Amino acid sequence: MLNVTPHPANSPGSHDSPHKRLFLHNRALQTSTVLARIEELEAAWIEPLVEDLADRTPPLAGRAEWKERLDGLLVLEREGSPAGSYLAEKATRAQFTHVVKEFALDGLTEAQNFFPAVPRLPIRAQMAVMRVLIDEFGCGNLQQTHSKLYLDLLAELGLPQELESFIDSTGDETYAFLNVFYWLTQRATDVEYFLGALAYLEASIPDAFQVQARACARLGIARGRYYTEHLHIDTFHMREMQTAIKEYEAARGLDATKLWIGARLLSGLIGSAFDAAVERAREVA
Ligand SMILES: [Fe+2]
Ligand SMILES: [Fe+2]
Repeated sequence: MLNVTPHPANSPGSHDSPHKRLFLHNRALQTSTVLARIEELEAAWIEPLVEDLADRTPPLAGRAEWKERLDGLLVLEREGSPAGSYLAEKATRAQFTHVVKEFALDGLTEAQNFFPAVPRLPIRAQMAVMRVLIDEFGCGNLQQTHSKLYLDLLAELGLPQELESFIDSTGDETYAFLNVFYWLTQRATDVEYFLGALAYLEASIPDAFQVQARACARLGIARGRYYTEHLHIDTFHMREMQTAIKEYEAARGLDATKLWIGARLLSGLIGSAFDAAVERAREVA
């Protein structure tokens, strides 16, 4: 378990929520006790969420329909949101810093929680996902790892460098977005949910991170490479994820409906996390 120093009860953001507990359990040594708690928390949260999405999703004919639906979702999201426009065009440095702080647990643990999916995939799909992971980890060069790029951004904004510093200030919506990957890779019965979610994420970031890149340029933040690097590299990652899905289908057949449920699940969670982060940032003077 992470070494979490207790916060004073009245400090802002200090809370003990099921989402925060689930994150800490997900990062802990997976003893049978810890795993039982994880399953309990997930049964009350993610399982109903996925069931609800499954009820509302008519079956997809196959991979071509999945790609069509994904493209449609990306077009919709490309239009942007009021939260995105605010962050790109109006947020103060303090407000932008607040959003960076909100996503620190994501940036600092970036891609670590994808690994358990690898052994669940056929070998050719493993290779495509591994090519993504190798980039996420800077091809083995610390200076290029995405988590190090996030550390550089945190340093410029005067934020702490340790993961533990963000445990008590991270919102539940962000925790839900973080926790979903632990479920997708390790406990979802079908790995298509993970493939669909990651294919969506890699394809959405080249548009989504334009917001933060524009904010960095406007606010004169020099170490915004975390965002600009993603604008570039995720155009490759989105293709690798399409390859992973094709190879999965060739080896095992494919349930395209589950890909789509995975994408919608992640799109909903990341959208809520981003909107909540910007809303809370706007309360910052
Ligand atoms: Fe990344
Ligand atoms: Fe990526």
